[in-house]
Amino acid sequence: MAAAMEGGRRVAWDPDQYHRYGDHRLRPALELFARVDHPSPKQVHDLGCGGGEIARLMAERWPEASVVGSDYSNAMLEKASAVPSRVDWQQLDVRAWAPSEPLDVIYSNAMLQWVDGHSEIFPKLMRSLAPRGLLAVQMPLSWGEPSHRLMRETLEEGGFGSSELRRTVARKWVAEAHEYYDLLRPLAASLDIWETRYHQVLTGEDPVLEWVKGTGLRPVLEGLAQDELSRFLDIYRARLAEAYPKRPGGETLYPFPRLFIVARARG
Ligand SMILES: C[S@@+](CC[C@H](N)C(=O)[O-])C[C@H]1O[C@@H](n2cnc3c(N)ncnc32)[C@H](O)[C@@H]1O
Repeated sequence: MAAAMEGGRRVAWDPDQYHRYGDHRLRPALELFARVDHPSPKQVHDLGCGGGEIARLMAERWPEASVVGSDYSNAMLEKASAVPSRVDWQQLDVRAWAPSEPLDVIYSNAMLQWVDGHSEIFPKLMRSLAPRGLLAVQMPLSWGEPSHRLMRETLEEGGFGSSELRRTVARKWVAEAHEYYDLLRPLAASLDIWETRYHQVLTGEDPVLEWVKGTGLRPVLEGLAQDELSRFLDIYRARLAEAYPKRPGGETLYPFPRLFIVARARG
């Protein structure tokens, strides 16, 4: 199974840059949340909760449930906890995490692509569920899109950064849908996997660059020295502008595929 992107490295998150395209990023999170079909969960957890939007919705949707929103980024947790709610915010790294009691819902939107070792972590999450509990995951499939391919090519061709950085960025973060199916099917009572390709309408200058600065480009932003970074960005920006030309009205279309998985534990 393909490894996820980050391996052992931690990426520093910038909540403001990430939430610049908040509506586009929230839509798949809501669409996944709408597929979480559990009548009365008691213990629910939003893993890698970021700004906490879905964890807060969990607390409203299931008033009886104990709701945890966790993330390893203190900056994200600060943003999440700045909005009043009854969510229990916890700082943790999912790689070292195991819940103290079985959970009815484990929800994770746009986080697991940052974590290596899916063949261990997905079964671990399934085994953390209570009977009939649900695991709901969404991960971007943007690795093969021009935005990410050009990022890798620009790094490689320009010899930018260390070979470790280039290897980190080159690793495929999300495996094929059938690999998750084969991995989870023996552990699941039911399994629903689907993909959606969003044709996102972005506005402003260099919007695809601004988008990836909030997520996939973060290891590069951190890994290159200032002068190298500005040379890299000049080339990458021009390539993105060519790959994602402005439409006649001035907007930019950024097609973005995502993989959704909802697995129910056996009773
Ligand atoms: C792309 S953001 C998604 C945030 C939120 N789920 C959303 O949909 O807006 C990825 C989040 O995963 C968190 N994250 C990445 N790796 C993690 C890990 N190993 N353990 C816990 N959180 C992690 C990051 O700190 C970041 O907040």
